[in-house]
Amino acid sequence: MTRKNVRKNKSKITPIIGLQWGDEGKGKGVARIASNLSKNDLIVRFQGGNNAGHTIWHAGKCYVFKLIPSGIFGQAQIHLGAGMVINPGAFLQETGTIPKYVSFLDRMSVSPHAILTMPTHILLDSISEKQKGGKKIGSTGRGISPSYTDLTLRRALRVGDIFQNDFKKRYAALSREHKKTLLNVFKYKAKDKELRESEKNFFQGVEFLRSLRVIQSAEIVEAALSGGHKVIAEGAQGTLLDVRFGNYPFVTSSHTIASGVGTGLGLPPSLIGPSIGVLKAYTTKVGEGPFPTELGGIKSAIWCRDEKSAYEKEKFPEPDLNSQDEFEQGVALRKAGSEFGAVTGRLRRTGWLDIPLVKYAIKINNSAELILTKLDVLNGFKKIKICTHYFINGHRTQKTPFDLSRAKIKCVYKNFPVWKEELSDYGKKLPKEALNYVKFLEKELGAKIIYVGTGPEEHHVVERYWR
Ligand code: GDP
Ligand code: IMO
Ligand code: MG
Repeated sequence: MTRKNVRKNKSKITPIIGLQWGDEGKGKGVARIASNLSKNDLIVRFQGGNNAGHTIWHAGKCYVFKLIPSGIFGQAQIHLGAGMVINPGAFLQETGTIPKYVSFLDRMSVSPHAILTMPTHILLDSISEKQKGGKKIGSTGRGISPSYTDLTLRRALRVGDIFQNDFKKRYAALSREHKKTLLNVFKYKAKDKELRESEKNFFQGVEFLRSLRVIQSAEIVEAALSGGHKVIAEGAQGTLLDVRFGNYPFVTSSHTIASGVGTGLGLPPSLIGPSIGVLKAYTTKVGEGPFPTELGGIKSAIWCRDEKSAYEKEKFPEPDLNSQDEFEQGVALRKAGSEFGAVTGRLRRTGWLDIPLVKYAIKINNSAELILTKLDVLNGFKKIKICTHYFINGHRTQKTPFDLSRAKIKCVYKNFPVWKEELSDYGKKLPKEALNYVKFLEKELGAKIIYVGTGPEEHHVVERYWR
């Protein structure tokens, strides 16, 4: 997108959306953009809850934000939007991780429509997942799906409800319903003792929420837009985890895509501008489900499933990025990219970049600009690969099938030479081979790569276009 067009779109919301299976580096991208925002600009989250884990390095320290928008270190206003599910205890605890020198309470607000995640939602999530056995989704266990389920069952508690006199009564009634389900459906008897601590945290969090500014998302966004200020909508999860357009059923429970900004904030589609898509230079995935370019295929999927001994298991002799064994390459890539879940610590499954999937995501999200992260992680390879096409039923295609699980996909790869330099030390320019890789992606994907990530910290970025 040209400089002129970006300016023209000033009165629209810019969604920042993950183009893969989450963990693309959205947090860092948002923080980077937020550092150029002023105090009347606005950053909102519009969906998801503390299943998200957005990592930011700021002033030499690492922070993982789950509910708080990643622009917290800038000056912009911060809003937790209507489409979110908020665990009040987790939210309060997360605010405690923000350093004292950052003042944020006066610029933070919450939508009254946002759903409250209760301790019994978390129990329902973990118990139901356990009982699914081999059919589990691999949820983060944060109660996300049961919280959204209560929304569609039309019985959820919302932030606006905490100001009503009957809040505690409604909480108790819903909690009882959850316990009934646990007992009758899952044969699990929830003990008051196991819920006591989390209920205490819940109500402390509710008190904290009461102290914040509660305002409808549409109101705060429209005020910012009509004042000519910038509005960034920070996506959580990624396109392939969207509840409808992701790889169902291995998805989360919200609309993670750019149009989710409309329903997540209560705004017309006409206010949503082109998005900035965030993608990794390779692919990762946490949880279950098909993954066409996975290094080591099903063996890797099974290996990463077992959470308990995950770290222990990978202490075997230093895995080789250039091994002939793809499974070992996958382990080495995980290690090189520190691909361990920011929320659950689970091993992230690893694989090559998948152009058909990213193209699908770019189309859905109208991504005019891209942020490419973790290019530095590919440093140690002798040869890197990109999946440019699929072969499905003997046909070469770039089209993503409706259901990845059922299509018999064979990936077609293109090889690329690797740069010798450590990218994070390279400063503001990319070495020739890395630049060729970036340019190939731009051409193939039909969008400009505005930033290239060359390391985890704030300054590890090569800025290619003005924004
Ligand atoms: P998000 O959920 O999309 O915000 O991404 P996560 O924070 O879950 O995962 C991204 C991980 O990659 C984090 O550990 C980041 O610190 C790290 N990261 C982000 N960009 C880069 C990059 O360009 N290079 C490297 N090496 N790490 C990065
Ligand atoms: P960020 O915002 C990666 C995955 C889980 C599981 C599925 C459903 O950090 O990119 P849920 O708890 O939502 O019911 O889990 O979605 N998942 C994520 N994977 N990054 C995330 O968020 C994720 N949030 C959920 O692993 O497969
Ligand atoms: Mg993450």
